[in-house]
Amino acid sequence: MDDITALILDDHAAFRRGFARLDDARDETELLAVWEALALHLDIHAEAEEAILYPHLVRHGDDGEDETTDAIGDHNEIRDAIAESKLHPVGSDEWWAAVWKARRENSEHLAEEEDGALPDFRRHTSVELRAELGARWLTFYGEHKNGRNLTFDDKDPQKYVQEHR
Ligand SMILES: [Fe+2]
Ligand SMILES: [Fe+2]
Repeated sequence: MDDITALILDDHAAFRRGFARLDDARDETELLAVWEALALHLDIHAEAEEAILYPHLVRHGDDGEDETTDAIGDHNEIRDAIAESKLHPVGSDEWWAAVWKARRENSEHLAEEEDGALPDFRRHTSVELRAELGARWLTFYGEHKNGRNLTFDDKDPQKYVQEHR
């Protein structure tokens, strides 16, 4: 069974490729096709981490509470930028501004997770637990295919930490 951190890194690589594909999209139809799939994946990924990764990290990480507070705040910024993009015609200046905000917030966030939260998580989890959470990760994606039953609402970072520690 896959380690949850490997599944998360797979998603992160897919996000980088998705933003690169936007650079190559040549008309609104292509932009919309790439962005809709990427935005949905970004939103589901954040929900999956909030359901499966961070509840564990917040309790067991060396710096779990701070890392979790930061991550939820970053997820909110990315969610807000995605929601903003949907208010504007694809390819318009306002649309690009929102998409670039999502891209910059996401790039910064991936680096923080890969250099902070995930190393901390790996140091405090067994191989068995990582596989068990990997299985839950895959199930989460199956249950919420195309975002089914997810609302992608922002979460209060402090409240989230209090509820999960
Ligand atoms: Fe992530
Ligand atoms: Fe994240």
